[in-house]
Amino acid sequence: EKDLGADLHEVLITKDEIDSRLAELAGEIDARYEGQDLLIVGVLKGAVMVMADLARALATPVTMDWMAISSYGAGTQSSGVVRILKDLDTDIKDKHVLIVEDIIDSGLTLSWLLANLGSREPASLEIVTLLRKPDAAKVDIDVRWVGFDIPNEFVVGYGLDYAEKYRNLPFVGTLAPHVYGG
Ligand code: PRP
Ligand code: MN
Ligand code: MG
Repeated sequence: EKDLGADLHEVLITKDEIDSRLAELAGEIDARYEGQDLLIVGVLKGAVMVMADLARALATPVTMDWMAISSYGAGTQSSGVVRILKDLDTDIKDKHVLIVEDIIDSGLTLSWLLANLGSREPASLEIVTLLRKPDAAKVDIDVRWVGFDIPNEFVVGYGLDYAEKYRNLPFVGTLAPHVYGG
């Protein structure tokens, strides 16, 4: 494993734990979409790792598209202000769409995205997220598949960043408070 250095507090979820949970979720997703065309939509940039690994764990043939939206900027708090940096390339009307996220924190990002994509009249619209922080929720979101519920601590790795760093860690870890001034 990579050197944690002084910036990380501890490993919260190991690579092996992520792999086996994604395999379980993939089985459930395969069962849900059997015989149907499925578009998976990754939310850049955090969901890159989940998209790549989940897509390869699926037996269902999928097409893949990406949206880039941002609510955090460089800080650790969700602002609730969502900007589209890159929209989908494809029309999702009458398609089965599965949004793939790395984490639901306040829920503001996905709440906005659900409304936005829902207005495009997909045949179905579901969410899979690797992580969710129940204690940080500001809005209730109906999430079909959750990898892990985690405590309300600042986490990085496996796609998740702090000020754009740590995304390439193969595990999910907690950040030492001194890094973000906590
Ligand atoms: C992070 C994370 C989720 C969102 C969750 O993305 O990847 O998309 O915040 O927070 P919320 O539930 O409080 O809205 P971010 O906006 O930091 O962009 P990034 O994926 O490029 O890091
Ligand atoms: Mn994100
Ligand atoms: Mg971020």
